[in-house]
Amino acid sequence: MNPDRSYQEAHTDFSRSLSYGDYLALDTLLSAQRPLTSAHDETLFIVIHQVSELWMKLIVHELQSAMGLLAQEIIDPALKMLTRVVRAQEQMTNAWEVLKTMTPADYLEFRSAFGQASGFQSYQYRLVEFLLGNRNPFMMRPHQHRPEHHRLLEQALTSPSLYDLSLRILAQRGLGIPAEVLERDFAQPYTPTPQVLGAWLEVYRHTEAHWDLYYLAEKLIDVEDNFRRWRFNHLTTVERMIGYKRGSGGTAGVGYLKKALEVVLFPELWQVRTEL
Ligand code: HEM
Repeated sequence: MNPDRSYQEAHTDFSRSLSYGDYLALDTLLSAQRPLTSAHDETLFIVIHQVSELWMKLIVHELQSAMGLLAQEIIDPALKMLTRVVRAQEQMTNAWEVLKTMTPADYLEFRSAFGQASGFQSYQYRLVEFLLGNRNPFMMRPHQHRPEHHRLLEQALTSPSLYDLSLRILAQRGLGIPAEVLERDFAQPYTPTPQVLGAWLEVYRHTEAHWDLYYLAEKLIDVEDNFRRWRFNHLTTVERMIGYKRGSGGTAGVGYLKKALEVVLFPELWQVRTEL
């Protein structure tokens, strides 16, 4: 037996150098869980929300960088970033498995403490939706009291979405995207057109000629697929937690979330499957 004793050579004096905890600002991070009650499950509830917000932070970072590249028609490195978005979305979806260990009775022990607070007011979630193209100016309203978040959302609302930038590339490749689509009012929801469907059909029918666009299209489908999974798992968790009660944010609750399941981010990419 020759047990490894190399741990004894590990650095142990951090009085003059950066430690793990300092680098990661763990004092700040780990002091940000501040339950309002003594209910055992409130810590779980807070941690799952915070972990989800951290994943959203990474998703926004990757999406914005990918969009910057797509705006310059640089596709491959953007695809690498979108792959990371897809993986981060999976982590967010897996978080429901941990949260579901809480029962409605556990939840009721602390529910009244957080009043009208709701994920509906998550500016990062709304930013992800705006970047992906699900745009609704009403959703800016809960952020009026935080000008820096409001500005960030407004900027995203009025700029091309991930899909708009992808369609610009189709246009640059001569795939017949109408000017009205390229110069649309970005603050409004996207309306599908037969011409855009035709352009994607060309890509899917001649994949070899348009390999990078074909790959981009499938990556967008991955992102939307995962977004739907998150929404669906949220909905089911909400239903098992509060049934058909109103949400803390003031919406109908499950009814509102069911409606959101109908949102389609990249409509022609789904339609193209029927046409092929
Ligand atoms: C016990 C667990 C949860 C319950 C009962 C719940 C309930 C709800 C309800 C009822 C809504 C609709 C808006 C409202 O009226 O409040 C909502 C929205 C939302 N929740 Fe949750 N939620 C839970 C956990 C989470 C977690 C862990 C996250 C992660 C960040 C989250 C993020 C969101 C987001 C982003 C929205 C806005 C969705 C949209 O507008 O499409 N929720 N939630």
